[in-house]
Amino acid sequence: MTKVDPNIAAAINGAQGEAAQAGTRKCLMNRRQFLLTSGIATTVVMVGVPGMPQAQTPAVISTYERKFIARLSELAQDEPFDFTYPDEGLYAESILVKLGKAAGGGIGPEKDVVAFNYTCTHQGGPLQGTYQAADKALGPCPLHLTTFDLTRHGIFISGQAYQSLPQVLLELDGDDIYAVGMFGLIYGRFDNLQG
Ligand code: FES
Repeated sequence: MTKVDPNIAAAINGAQGEAAQAGTRKCLMNRRQFLLTSGIATTVVMVGVPGMPQAQTPAVISTYERKFIARLSELAQDEPFDFTYPDEGLYAESILVKLGKAAGGGIGPEKDVVAFNYTCTHQGGPLQGTYQAADKALGPCPLHLTTFDLTRHGIFISGQAYQSLPQVLLELDGDDIYAVGMFGLIYGRFDNLQG
């Protein structure tokens, strides 16, 4: 029997809770499957698209081999730490940041440490260097100005993209922060893995 990682459950519950609060958006887990191959698990969740009440798009939650990223005690608020996940390939660059504000999927005593992929979901624009401390957001994207909310699972705030920024699922082990999976699909990749 497959054991559901607490981070994955938290990500799903967080998305559902925020959707319920928003009222106009739906987040419905109508299909859930785990594919265990070489330690990789994948879950498919149907998530409503804001502004498109009838549409639902698949949000994929996948787990990979856990990777040490940084120490919680060494993170300073609003100072991004860059890393790559789930591999070293194209579009794997990601941001780890302590927001100073509780966030969906956040870890740590204040639930404010989150991580996201740096590649814009619209057409792959690079979001490196665009963290906005005041808004806890990433963007605007240099290509078509999309901005993503890091407190709400990377949902887009404005711009051309209509899919949330892929969130790196984190796990805290003592003072050590590990990446353990992805919530969403990295731009340009079929299953979040290189090639
Ligand atoms: S590539 Fe980022 S908004 Fe188009």
